[in-house]
Amino acid sequence: MLDKQSLKILIEALERLDGGFAELPEFVPRAPQATRIPQVLSAVADRLQDNYPYFHPLYAGQMLKPPHPVARLAYSLAQWINPNNHALDGGRATSAMEREAVAALAAMFGWKEHLGHLSGGGTMANLEALWVAGRLAPGPRILASEQAHYTHGRVSAVLQLPFSSVPCDARGRMDMAKLREELARGDVGTVVATMGTTATGSIDPLAEMLELQDRFGFRLHADAAYGGYFGLAGNLTAQARQAFDLLCRVDSIVIDPHKHGLQPYGCGCVLFRDPDVRRLYKHDSPFTYFSSRELHLGEISLECSRAGAAAASLWATQELLPLTRGGEFACGLEECRAAALDFYNRLSGDARFVTAFPPELDIVVFLVRAASVSEASELSRKVFNAAARRSLHLAIAELPVKFFAANLGAMRPDRPTLACLRSVLMKPEHLEWLPRIWDLLGESVRECGVA
Ligand SMILES: Cc1ncc(COP(=O)(O)O)c(C=O)c1O
Repeated sequence: MLDKQSLKILIEALERLDGGFAELPEFVPRAPQATRIPQVLSAVADRLQDNYPYFHPLYAGQMLKPPHPVARLAYSLAQWINPNNHALDGGRATSAMEREAVAALAAMFGWKEHLGHLSGGGTMANLEALWVAGRLAPGPRILASEQAHYTHGRVSAVLQLPFSSVPCDARGRMDMAKLREELARGDVGTVVATMGTTATGSIDPLAEMLELQDRFGFRLHADAAYGGYFGLAGNLTAQARQAFDLLCRVDSIVIDPHKHGLQPYGCGCVLFRDPDVRRLYKHDSPFTYFSSRELHLGEISLECSRAGAAAASLWATQELLPLTRGGEFACGLEECRAAALDFYNRLSGDARFVTAFPPELDIVVFLVRAASVSEASELSRKVFNAAARRSLHLAIAELPVKFFAANLGAMRPDRPTLACLRSVLMKPEHLEWLPRIWDLLGESVRECGVA
């Protein structure tokens, strides 16, 4: 099942790469203990079997899937060189590729000008965005919704900036009345809008947040780590479409190519609308920036060494699958969303299940109906295990009962939160596999005594 065909392409590309260094004197790199490599690699393969099958459509749990083959190949190819994108003498080609790939991401959000770079992931990218915000914002306090990723609270603590969570409405979006109350206290400098929450894929009401920004003058940062690419999809709700169309007006954006951008882990991205924020990064390094007066990526990022391979991989993927509406990449996102809507419709039309609000992206959360939410929470764990025994891998999330309140019927809401089943349908193949997923879920709930 795992793709092996593409390795042939890697060998051809390696030959070509090698050709670029033909002027060097012949040299055979040392590979100590090389004879043991096959044995050790077999041991790695054995160890790696202890994983859920993230590559398979029956893995429909968390935000996990392997990269696109072209990303894997470009990343591997770059590792024969192992460029470091900190400074140009460590990675000239991949620094250029990073700048092009990041510019394409900025253009996807409608920015012709920007400052941005890749990072280790969404956490590092958000850290930089909040670090910059902390230095430019009119007040110290940072706000994010209670469904925002926990990274915002932690990063604020690292930056020693006060942080508060703003409650959410029944759809997992930041509650605008509560936001107004917080803003009225007069000490808020930055508000984080989440464009696709981790648990449910909910999108904060950006239009209202921008209106409040006009009135209160805070800095607006969008955490689009998960949802950012969905602006390319043609099958969003009207509210989500509006939010993505307005995204160009925020001050900074984080998007994670290692989530929906088909990249291996180690690829986040931070973008600033005002290129002039580069002045905040200004520092000198006596041993690095000597090879050129051109900008070195290390001069505009907090991390020092970073994998040039990540840039090669992202650049290659965007060459193959440009970030355009109606293109192949966008169609893949549309299929993920269609899969989520199909799943949601099946669940909400079946009396055995209780759904929350309709998905805004490709994440579906649901319960198996029981007498109370406590019992339903226990059932979630049982169904999770019964499904796993059938190779259908779901996830579990602890969420506020209010997300399900409209559909609870006679169920007793005996706790403020519940453990529900959660499915991230982030592979386009999930759409054609939904009938199978549905059958396996049906068998799993029957095993748990639900008729
Ligand atoms: C909305 C959001 N922001 C930030 C993060 C953190 O990103 P990372 O895990 O790449 O550090 C995540 C991770 O799931 C996320 O969903």
